[in-house]
Amino acid sequence: MLKLFKKGTPITEVFPLDFVDIHSHLLPEIDDGSKSMENTIEMISTMEAYGIQNFITTPHVLGDVWKNSSDTILDKLDLVLEELEKQDMSYIKFEAAAEYMLDEQFCELLKKRDLLTLKEDSLLVEMSYLQAPVNLFEILFDIQLAGYNPILAHPERYSFCHENFDIYHKLKESGCRFQVNLLSLTGNYGKSIQKVAEKLIKENMIDLAGSDTHNMNHLNSLKKLGTKKNLKLLTPILKNNVEFYR
Ligand SMILES: [Fe+2]
Repeated sequence: MLKLFKKGTPITEVFPLDFVDIHSHLLPEIDDGSKSMENTIEMISTMEAYGIQNFITTPHVLGDVWKNSSDTILDKLDLVLEELEKQDMSYIKFEAAAEYMLDEQFCELLKKRDLLTLKEDSLLVEMSYLQAPVNLFEILFDIQLAGYNPILAHPERYSFCHENFDIYHKLKESGCRFQVNLLSLTGNYGKSIQKVAEKLIKENMIDLAGSDTHNMNHLNSLKKLGTKKNLKLLTPILKNNVEFYR
């Protein structure tokens, strides 16, 4: 019985009106996210039931692993928009950008300025969880020199930073904004990542939030988000997501 009182706020009451999810993998068969158009609609419908109606979905662009281009992403986006219309769901605001791995291929795309932004000049980027690219700060400098603003996806997931918090400070000083994964705060990736996510928020280093939804399991885990502690931590950040989109 006691468990009942520990559940916290239902996920349907966590997101502010006009919240936009700026990180997800909802385009079908383009990366390790959605497996089919049916799966895409199922995930969007579930998130709509959670109170999210605005999406900028962000498929991986990752070397030889996920060789997506702006064209392949925008073509898939068109198919999803058509399907949303067919399903009478065209009130859902659904756009696409990308989550760029900071690798050699990214540097080539940057030279050509062939990049999909979240909004205006904001670029969602990630790196390996285990080690930073040797020229990390050079790349961040080049991104900004080219007129883009980097947003680093899930800083809490880079285990090489956990014992060296200074890297986070250096990244912020280098002009990176940070996007926390909501799933990190549910313990989805383990306790240590959850702790680092909480610490980054408490130190006012997190600017924005994203679900990073890849599948229905993630959406089930997200149901655990609404603890009292998380709501306190997340309220100002979720508002930033609303403002970001305006
Ligand atoms: Fe992602």
